[in-house]
Amino acid sequence: MADQRSVLQDYDRYISGLFAPAADALRSARGEMLRASMPEINVSASEGKLLHLLARAIGAERILEIGTLGGYSTIWLARALPPQGKLISLEIDARYAEVARRNLKRANLAEKVQVRIGPALESLSQLEAEDEGPFDLVFIDADKDGYVNYLRKAMPLLREGGLVLGDNALPDAVLDSAAESGTKRYNAEVSARPDLISILVPVLRTRGIDGLLISVKQAQAPKA
Ligand code: SAH
Ligand code: DHB
Ligand code: MG
Repeated sequence: MADQRSVLQDYDRYISGLFAPAADALRSARGEMLRASMPEINVSASEGKLLHLLARAIGAERILEIGTLGGYSTIWLARALPPQGKLISLEIDARYAEVARRNLKRANLAEKVQVRIGPALESLSQLEAEDEGPFDLVFIDADKDGYVNYLRKAMPLLREGGLVLGDNALPDAVLDSAAESGTKRYNAEVSARPDLISILVPVLRTRGIDGLLISVKQAQAPKA
């Protein structure tokens, strides 16, 4: 098992060495997070690059992130935006949000990114009330038990053709049909929605394998 994990790390080092070498503001953001004793649960560099590439591929100008932590994934996503683009990131922990704001400032992204403090479900209601939609891309990465509700709240805020990305979609619990997990419930919900076309893609993390559930919003099939 330990062997398998180190092989996965070697694969990830190869991929990120070529396509997502640790650099500049991203490296400092990780350093600041360590100094602030924050959990090391940000996306990997290779997954960050995947988020960035997906945002670029659809020409995203408005991005919504649920779960900021220190702003590491936020930097990958916000760097995909055009000059007039905007990203709103939702975070419940005020101390984490402060670290994220500092990291975003250092990355010269402070003008494009707004970090909103509060429980994501409440912030999503505020975004709806403020008519902040439509977004081109929603990245869900906060508390796993909240994912299904975040999806339901975010769908009306997402344009047709927009992407929903769900992190941590391959927890160990998927290997045990009796095991419960928030992201397993999310995966089931997404797979059953007629307005999403989706695939769960395995991604490499420092601790081994995980998944990103990628969904495109489409018009619901007209009733026959
Ligand atoms: N996207 C980040 C990692 C996010 S970790 C990255 O890859 O760099 C999950 C974050 O969700 C944590 O910062 C946690 O404080 C936040 N969170 C947990 N519950 C939340 C809630 N109810 N509302 C908003 N944020 C929440
Ligand atoms: C963990 C990883 C994540 O990407 C996350 O969003 C939450 C927790 C973890 O490894 O514990
Ligand atoms: Mg995550």
